[in-house]
Amino acid sequence: MAFDLEMIQAVYAGMGQRIEAARTAVGRPLTLTEKILYAHLYGGNVTQSFERGVSYVDFAPDRVAMQDATAQMALLQFMQAGKAQAAVPSTVHCDHLIQARDGANEDLAVANDENREVYDFLASVSNKYGIGFWKPGAGIIHQVVLENYAFPGGMMIGTDSHTPNAGGLGMIAIGVGGADAVDVMAGMAWELKFPKVIGVKLTGKMNGWTSAKDVILRVAGILTVKGGTGAIVEYFGEGANNLSATGKGTICNMGAEIGATTSVFSYDEKMGDYLRGTSRAEIAEAAAAVAHHLRADDEVYANPEAYYDQLIEIDLNTLEPYVNGPFTPDAAWPISQFAAAVKEHGWPEKLEVGLIGSCTNSSYEDITRAASIAEQAVTKGLTVNAEFTVTPGSELVRYTVERDGLLDTFAQMGGVVLANACGPCIGQWARHTDDPKRRNSIITSFNRNFAKRNDGNPNTHAFVASPEIVTAFAIAGDLTFNPLTDTLTSKDGQQVKLDEPRGVEMPPQGFAVEDAGYQAPAEDGSGVQVLVDPTSDRLELLEPFKPWEGTDLMGLRLLIKAQGKCTTDHISMAGPWLKYRGHLDNISNNMLIGATNAFNGEANKVRDFVAQGDTYNTVPQVARNYKSMHIGTVVVGDENYGEGSSREHAAMEPRHLGVRAVIVKSFARIHETNLKKQGMLGLTFANKADYDLIEEGDTIDILGLTTFAPGKQLQARLHHVDGDTDLIYLNHTYNEGQIEWFKAGSALNLIRLKEAGQA
Ligand code: F3S
Repeated sequence: MAFDLEMIQAVYAGMGQRIEAARTAVGRPLTLTEKILYAHLYGGNVTQSFERGVSYVDFAPDRVAMQDATAQMALLQFMQAGKAQAAVPSTVHCDHLIQARDGANEDLAVANDENREVYDFLASVSNKYGIGFWKPGAGIIHQVVLENYAFPGGMMIGTDSHTPNAGGLGMIAIGVGGADAVDVMAGMAWELKFPKVIGVKLTGKMNGWTSAKDVILRVAGILTVKGGTGAIVEYFGEGANNLSATGKGTICNMGAEIGATTSVFSYDEKMGDYLRGTSRAEIAEAAAAVAHHLRADDEVYANPEAYYDQLIEIDLNTLEPYVNGPFTPDAAWPISQFAAAVKEHGWPEKLEVGLIGSCTNSSYEDITRAASIAEQAVTKGLTVNAEFTVTPGSELVRYTVERDGLLDTFAQMGGVVLANACGPCIGQWARHTDDPKRRNSIITSFNRNFAKRNDGNPNTHAFVASPEIVTAFAIAGDLTFNPLTDTLTSKDGQQVKLDEPRGVEMPPQGFAVEDAGYQAPAEDGSGVQVLVDPTSDRLELLEPFKPWEGTDLMGLRLLIKAQGKCTTDHISMAGPWLKYRGHLDNISNNMLIGATNAFNGEANKVRDFVAQGDTYNTVPQVARNYKSMHIGTVVVGDENYGEGSSREHAAMEPRHLGVRAVIVKSFARIHETNLKKQGMLGLTFANKADYDLIEEGDTIDILGLTTFAPGKQLQARLHHVDGDTDLIYLNHTYNEGQIEWFKAGSALNLIRLKEAGQA
C-alpha cells in the first residue's frame, strides 16, 4: 500500500535538531506532543516558542486522509490548484456511503450501484493526482490508516473527527474539514492554535473483563464531552506500555468524544509489534532508533504536574468495565453500578441489538475477545436474546478473522456480518424494526451515541461499551445483566456464568488478505480524465471564482442582516443537503436558510429589491436574482458569525451566489479564514454599534480596496432607501498573502497562477 518509508526516514532525520531547537526556545523539557508539533512546523526551522492555548501556528503535516463524504468537495477544490500531484501522500477511503441492511455482500452491491457516480469520481480524481484510493468495502478510514500509514512521531490530518485513532501508533492525527485537506494537499501551511496538553498517567495492568475501551470511557466520564477542547491528551506510564497498539488506537479514537484536538501515546514495543505484524518492520526499526524523540523528556514523566496543563491518573488494576450513555458518551457507569442506573432512570431494560466493530473497536484483539464470549453462547447452551451485528474495520481484519474461524463463531450465535464500512455508526442503518419510534435500547462498541445517530429514532437509547461487554449483553438481552457477577439460564435450565474474555493481540498465523481493496494511483496522471457526469445532481466540477476587478466595490445590495446566532449550520445546513456536498450549485440552495433576518425575525425570508413590488423570497433565491443581474451582495452578521464547524461550503456558497463581503460584529476564526480562502471580504465593524445603521434596502459601497493593506481599515458607504448615507469603518485581519488571495479570486486561484508561473 506504499507507505512512504523515505518520507518517514526524512521526518526522523530532522527530528533531533528540531527538538533540540524547540527545547532551547521553550527553555524547559518537552512533552511528546510538543516534540512532534515543533518537528512539523511549516518551513521547518524552530525559531521561537509558542504559547499553549494561545499562539496560532503554521504546520506541515506528513499525510492527508479523506473519507468519501468529505473528500468530494475537498478534491473538487484541489483540482483548482493546478497541481500535477498532491503535495503530501494522501488517501481516499470509501466507507461512509454504504448502508447496512442485509449483510456485507448484498449491502456493498447496492452501495456500488447507488453511489457509482461518486465512487467513479473519487477513483478517477485520486488516480490523476497521485492519491491512494481505497474502494468501497476496503474498510473504515481510521482502521485502514492504522494498518497502513500511521507512524510514530508523524503528523497527519484527516477529514473525519475520529482521525485521532492513529495516536495508537504515536502519531499526532487531527480531524479537520475538507478545506484544511485542500491546504495541505496544495502545499500550503496548515494552521492550528497550539494546543494545551493533558497528561493521563496509566498505572498497573488490566485484567478480566476490563479493556482499553474502558480507559477512554472512564476518561470521558472525568473530562466530559468538553473537557478536552483545545488540548492534546498524552497517555503515559507503565500501564500504557501494557496496552496493545490497537487498544491505544481505541483510546485515541474516542478522544474525539471529549472534544480533544487529538490523543497520543509514546512509542513502545507494542507499537513495534503491530508495525511488524502489519508488514512494516522497517518503520519499527526506524522508530526504535529514534525512540528517545518519540516520548516526552524524562523530567516530564518524573514530575508530570509541572509540565501538563492537567493531569489525570488511572489505575488499570482496579479499573472496571464501563457502559456509557444513553445519548451522550460522557455518562459513564462502572458496570457494578449500571443495572441500578438503568432501573433508576427507567431506561428500557430489554436490549434489542448489540453491535460490535467500527473504526473504534475492530482489531484482531477486539474480535477475539468478543468471539471468546460469543462461543460460550453455543458451548453453554444459551439462547441469544438480542440481534447482533459485526462491522469489521477493514478487509485485512475481516479476511483474517474469517480464516481463523471467528466469523463462524459469531454466525453460530446468530450474528450478521456487515460490510467493512461505517454503516450503523453513522446512521447508515436500515434497521429491521416493526416500530421505528419505539423507546428501546441498543448497545454498541462504537464511539458516539447522540440521539438519532445510529437509526434516526430519538427514542433509541444507545449505550457504548467494549466489544466483549456488548457481546455478553447481546446474549443476555437485558441491560440489567452484569456479566462479571450474574448468571444466565441455559436452555436446559442450568444457571451458567460467562467466563472472562480471552483475547489474542496479533493473529498467530499473521494477517492475511486476498484483495485489500487498494488502488494505487497512476505514476503519471496527466492523461487521466476525471469522471464527472455533467447531468449529475450530486457532483459538479468547480469553475474558478473571478479575480478582483481592481476597483472599489460599488452598489452592492444587502442580502441579509442576520441577527443573533449564525453558525455554519445556519449558513449551510447539513441533514438532507449533505447529498449535494459535491455539487456547489445545488447545495447553495441551502445558503443562510437557517439565519434569522433582523428585519422580520424570520428565517429564510428576505426582501428582494430588484423584483417587482414588495417581494419577499428565500435567501438563496434572492441571491440568485441579484446575481443574474450582475449585482454583488453583502451579508451582515452579529457576534461570532460562522461558529461551529470548519465546513467549507459555508464560505463557498455565498461566494458562488455572488456575495462579495461578509460584515459582522465578530467572526469565528476558522470561518473567517475560510472566507478569505474563497476570495471573499470577511470584515468586522470597527464600531460594533454600526451594525444598527444597516437598514433593509441598503446598497453598500466597499471603499479602500485599491490600497488594501494589512492593518489598514476599509470603509463602507451605506445608501439608505430614504436617500441618506452613512460612512462606517471596517476592520480586517488580512495579511499580505491573504490580500493576494482576495486579488486572485481565491487562495487556490493564486496557487494555480503560481504553478503556471503567472504569479
Ligand atoms: Fe465511521 Fe463511525 Fe468511525 S462513522 S469513521 S465508523 S466513528
